[in-house]
Amino acid sequence: MTTMLNKKVDFPVLNTTMRGNDLVYLDNAATTQKPKSVLETMNHFLTKENGTVNRGVYFLSQEATKKCDDSRKSIQLFLNAASEKEIIFVKGTTEAINLVAYSYGELLKAGDEILITELEHHANIVPWQQLCLRRGCILKVAPITDDGHLDLNEFKKLLSSKTKLVSFCHISNSIGTINPAKEMIKLAKEVGAKVMIDGAQAVSHLKVDVQDLDCDFYAFSGHKCFGPTGIGVLYGKEALLEKMPPFMTGGDMIETVSFQSSSFAELPRKFEAGTPAIVEIIGLGEAIKYMNSLDFTEIQEYEQKLLNLAQEKLGELDVRLIGPTHTKAAIVSFVVNGVHAHDVGTILDMEGIAVRVGHHCTQPLMKRYKVSSTIRASFCFYNNMDDVDALVRGLKKVREFLG
Ligand SMILES: Cc1ncc(COP(=O)(O)O)c(C=O)c1O
Repeated sequence: MTTMLNKKVDFPVLNTTMRGNDLVYLDNAATTQKPKSVLETMNHFLTKENGTVNRGVYFLSQEATKKCDDSRKSIQLFLNAASEKEIIFVKGTTEAINLVAYSYGELLKAGDEILITELEHHANIVPWQQLCLRRGCILKVAPITDDGHLDLNEFKKLLSSKTKLVSFCHISNSIGTINPAKEMIKLAKEVGAKVMIDGAQAVSHLKVDVQDLDCDFYAFSGHKCFGPTGIGVLYGKEALLEKMPPFMTGGDMIETVSFQSSSFAELPRKFEAGTPAIVEIIGLGEAIKYMNSLDFTEIQEYEQKLLNLAQEKLGELDVRLIGPTHTKAAIVSFVVNGVHAHDVGTILDMEGIAVRVGHHCTQPLMKRYKVSSTIRASFCFYNNMDDVDALVRGLKKVREFLG
């Protein structure tokens, strides 16, 4: 490998040991580690500047409000959204999808169709199922091919004037497939459907431009892109958000309240009921600043090299790779022949190697591949070739222990 980004130095956790070994962190699809700048910013705010937002006339409150506003602005620019009004703070991708399922769902009627794909995380399945139960809509699922890519012909066939919303992951958390988002959006728009993208896995790997994509909604979680847990973003086109009723109601999202009725605040606050996750919003703003310092083209090239190396080396072992081998993010899902995934994960953990084992919140996708669980190694730009070697060494130990 020619380039080594050598970014581990920015992430304190990555310089610790685990069970007597250097930590090899390969569970980035579950959550990413946080750079020093994010940790320090959050700690500084809580120890020196803590105050609530939007209410106080005093300095601390005004500063907190300004910092949250700045964070929203950075996210707008990061996604290339047309306006700050289009950036709604939520708890994470799950809440963002639920918000759309409830609120946009209020505009749907019995018989309307929602189209998802076989690749989806439970967070992009269950909210739509529940919407269908509430309103009599119909959930359709576009299949994938055996090699883990969306079957575009089948996708096209499932689109019709009845399709009111298409929701799909930008990148599959389970097998790494990168969906042809622009093409899918164009096809969905041809039948007049709105499009939601679950970007939980994409923002840390790809440069996302919501105007270029022309999606109606885009969701991501802070903790999967170097920020804290408990904060995420729903991007929505302003005109559409204006038409949608509020999701949750209460303080902060209102303009006036009487016992008879209430009127709601302007966007984005119409969708932000209650005291927001202030320090998390500020931490996410710092994570965005960190990502802005990175060259995403370089990151993609580097991660592809890690991926190729991992796939090549795993290919030499007695394992079965699950899902695509190309047009994918640096996520490798596999089973070790004859050994339960949980046993593999436990032995790797003894070596200080953190991987995810299980169904990765994609039970229908596991069923598609006729497995109950896989081992998933998900890489990030701060991983390096040594981490791939450590994984391979760990897997050889699994064989030694378990035959
Ligand atoms: C593709 C995808 N969608 C949605 C989610 C849910 O994200 P969160 O748990 O942060 O709400 C995840 C988390 O693993 C994910 O990978």
